[in-house]
Amino acid sequence: MHSRLQTSGHLILFLLWSACLLPAIVSAAGFEGKVVTDVDTPIVGAMVTFRFGSPFQERTVFTAEDGRYQVAGLPPGVDHTIRVRRIGWHDIRSSESTSDLSSKQLDFTMERQTDPAKVAAQLPANHWYALVLERLTNESEREQLVRQCTYCHQQGSEATRIQRPLEEWHKVLALMARMGGGLDMEFRDKIVELFNSAYDHKTAVPRLTKGFDQPGFAPPPSEEARRAIIDEYQLGGRSSMQHDMIIHPDGHAYSVDMTTDTLFRLDPSKPDGGRESFPIPPGNQPLGGSLASGALPPNTDMRLGPHSLQAGPDGDVWITLAVGNKLARFDTVEESFVTEDLPGGVYPHTLRLDERGRIWYTIAVSNHVGVYDPKTGQHDVIRVPARNFAEEVTVRMIPIVLWLGQWFDIMELGSAGEDSSLPIPYGIDIAPDGGIWFSQLNAHRIGHIDPDTFEIRMIDTPFSAPRRMRFDSKGKLWIPGFSSSLISKFDTDTSEFEHIELPAELLGAETPYALNVDLATDDVWICGTNSDTLIRYQQGSGKFTIYPLPTQVTYTRDIDFSRDGGIWTSNSNTPAWQIETGIPRLIRLDVDGVIALPQVSSHP
Ligand code: HEC
Repeated sequence: MHSRLQTSGHLILFLLWSACLLPAIVSAAGFEGKVVTDVDTPIVGAMVTFRFGSPFQERTVFTAEDGRYQVAGLPPGVDHTIRVRRIGWHDIRSSESTSDLSSKQLDFTMERQTDPAKVAAQLPANHWYALVLERLTNESEREQLVRQCTYCHQQGSEATRIQRPLEEWHKVLALMARMGGGLDMEFRDKIVELFNSAYDHKTAVPRLTKGFDQPGFAPPPSEEARRAIIDEYQLGGRSSMQHDMIIHPDGHAYSVDMTTDTLFRLDPSKPDGGRESFPIPPGNQPLGGSLASGALPPNTDMRLGPHSLQAGPDGDVWITLAVGNKLARFDTVEESFVTEDLPGGVYPHTLRLDERGRIWYTIAVSNHVGVYDPKTGQHDVIRVPARNFAEEVTVRMIPIVLWLGQWFDIMELGSAGEDSSLPIPYGIDIAPDGGIWFSQLNAHRIGHIDPDTFEIRMIDTPFSAPRRMRFDSKGKLWIPGFSSSLISKFDTDTSEFEHIELPAELLGAETPYALNVDLATDDVWICGTNSDTLIRYQQGSGKFTIYPLPTQVTYTRDIDFSRDGGIWTSNSNTPAWQIETGIPRLIRLDVDGVIALPQVSSHP
């Protein structure tokens, strides 16, 4: 009895003592208010965005049915730039300081946008792109355009929907082909005319803005979507090519910048996001790495081209170095890299780790899948079957063509980049039974690899362009059809596909690049890559919810989930300077608006 009392006495003393050492939490600041028209009618679904810090961070909330919004958790005592945005209305911009710590009342009166051209300019890219696609009656041409032209940047965005003289279009298309976005030669002649007619303001603007002064135009996001909070963190610069992102089990977000060979880290538990960059040592890699042939985006220092990443069982981050032809391993504690050369193949792409800690990755350009076991050092490259003999020959020629590219402009020789039908192993995921599944993008197939014998079985997909796929908790494989505006559920036991079309609002010009399944709910989250959205599909009810993202040209690339319920993605439009603010971002969608921003602390 005596000793217990004594212990608790010590405990109290200890608690008191440590409480004095704890930093005092300065309460976070906030704003609330109403967004209305000039006759005091509430504006529903307006996005109210607060920007602060450097590099900046933005927090966006939506106005409710009564036009009210509320935002909490902002850092106190700093300047906030505020933007209020709703399609059909002028953007409002103002700046406010949260010098006091309580909520400030801030109301806004929006003014109608009366110039239809400006209303049309507020619409996401997919509305404009639909005008091009509806002119293409030949399905295989339509499919080729979507698959080849929307995997680096949006189509129909402000930078791309410009009418140009035909010779300028041909120069643009030749540059795109050099970087990998090739179209068949006859099709190029046709598409340049179609771009010019689709993007003619005289016809496009009236089509896109029909009834824009009526209430039904550009309806607000659904009530469910309006509950969300969106946090965006600026990362990198104007010449960045931010590719994939992950949430590490330790809560950090990591993403890679291909053109600057950098790994970014963000700590959402720090008030300023604690953003750090780790340059990956280039070794003796030449500029452009294994693709040193002119197939590089402009303004690039890329020697390694970090592309995709995953956390290993020990917490290390594994990265595919696509143009360096290596895997990199980042020790998150020592903050150091080691690299491992590929034993063969060109362009390591997407990776996953299996239960044994082996790294499985697609090798896009040379039609392989690689597997590396860090425990034993065993590294194998498995050749994926081609569709026919001619394709096999072409694929096997690629390393030779790239090698020749050291001395010759391989475009003159007729390069891989010009060919829009190379098979391209792409997405990859591991089934609950340990089986390896991957997609072969341009061949419209998925494949299964036996994890022990490496035996491969290929299956045609009844839809085009299967891209980044994921298993749900029940072992069903979910696949986005990049050029077919659908998602498909594949049953690995029966080999049956079940298609689910994306919602009609996305106008058939959506290009779902990737999806991921939240294993806590089995909800399928889909990239609305050409419409500045994230899309949720709830398996139980079959319901879609579209979450609009606040920044124009938000090219959503990959999706991951944080333990607190955040849905994360990267804005990966390449070139970055086509993004509204010219700089890439990491984005967190908080569906129920419950994730608090970390509070600023000050030591007593
Ligand atoms: C491999 C990535 C990639 C692919 C695929 C791609 N683009 Fe581009 N695109 C870029 C980059 C990078 C730029 C910026 C080029 C520059 O400004 O030097 C760009 C710029 C553009 C522009 C704006 C040019 C300007 O004057 O600013 C247009 C239009 C365009 N692309 C159309 C297309 C079309 C059409 C396709 C399909 C044939 C396509 N892109 C495929 C990377 C790509």
